[in-house]
Amino acid sequence: MPSIARLTRADLVEARAVLADACAFDRAAEVAEEKLFEPAPAGEAVAWGARVGGALVGVTAVTADRLRLIAVAPDARRRGVGAALLETAEAHARAAGAPRLRTLDLPGNYLAPGIDVRNTDTIAWLQKRGWVRHGENVNLRVALRGNPQVSAARAAAAADAARARGYDVRRARPDEPGLLEAVAADFGGAWPWEIARALAGGGVHVAIAPGGAIASFAAHDGNNRGLGWFGPAGTHPDHRGLRLAEALLLACLVDVAAREATCEVAWIGPRRFYEHAAGVAGDRHFLVLQKDLT
Ligand SMILES: CC(C)(COP(=O)(O)OP(=O)(O)OC[C@H]1O[C@@H](n2cnc3c(N)ncnc32)[C@H](O)[C@@H]1OP(=O)(O)O)[C@@H](O)C(=O)NCCC(=O)NCCS
Repeated sequence: MPSIARLTRADLVEARAVLADACAFDRAAEVAEEKLFEPAPAGEAVAWGARVGGALVGVTAVTADRLRLIAVAPDARRRGVGAALLETAEAHARAAGAPRLRTLDLPGNYLAPGIDVRNTDTIAWLQKRGWVRHGENVNLRVALRGNPQVSAARAAAAADAARARGYDVRRARPDEPGLLEAVAADFGGAWPWEIARALAGGGVHVAIAPGGAIASFAAHDGNNRGLGWFGPAGTHPDHRGLRLAEALLLACLVDVAAREATCEVAWIGPRRFYEHAAGVAGDRHFLVLQKDLT
């Protein structure tokens, strides 16, 4: 039997190795610290590790009513390690008063907005343990190399067009006045939290209206920092239809292109906007499963 204990940052190197081996569909190892230890708007992360003969072979983490991830090293599978971790996560959530536990779609800090539908083994494994379909989410992939729609020149032209209309289009300052308040007022949810995290890395672009109000914003690396994921982004209703969002999307994509060959647009809404503004090279589909804990 594996021994299950709370994980700490002292376990991070081993945890990264487990995630690198275990997670074929997500870049979990690269964001291990964020996923295992950093909070979300809904609360703190609680992570556990499974050890066999002293070696870390599996990890899981929970925040509130979300299972943030679960992974067992391939050579340690089919020995009950995953089941022991899942039982620990479910018992913790139940004891904390959560009526249900859901997979991965934790606003503000998510490895992915669900389980990649290609991950059929993990989906079947959870379904066998009483988890049922709750919904689906989609990420889009935008090509950043050899894509004529994404270039510094096109980003600059889009910013110039917005400036010609009187908007100040630029990278947000770390303490951009009114930004978090505007995001909270116009969009709310986890977005101000994600924008604050993106700001810390310099990954937010804004369009300021002639009177000084935040007309539009777009961010990358607020969640899954370092992977170049795009979002959140939004334009105040008074300033829609002026291609401000396109200008800011392109500015973000040019940032990400310095490091990545593709950009993942997470948990998308308006697919046609992205098709038109930057082209869509592919998409990823995610299944959200949940288990009733009552
Ligand atoms: C899903 C996952 C966590 C399961 O881990 P695991 O340690 O293999 O899980 P278990 O050993 O508890 O269960 C696996 C199977 O082995 C069986 N098993 C358990 N104990 C056993 C034992 N002692 N002898 C033989 N078989 C056993 C289980 O019955 C189960 O079979 P079933 O699914 O047909 O019921 C693991 O496959 C994994 O890491 N997948 C990738 C995770 C991933 O992609 N994560 C990213 C999204 S979070």
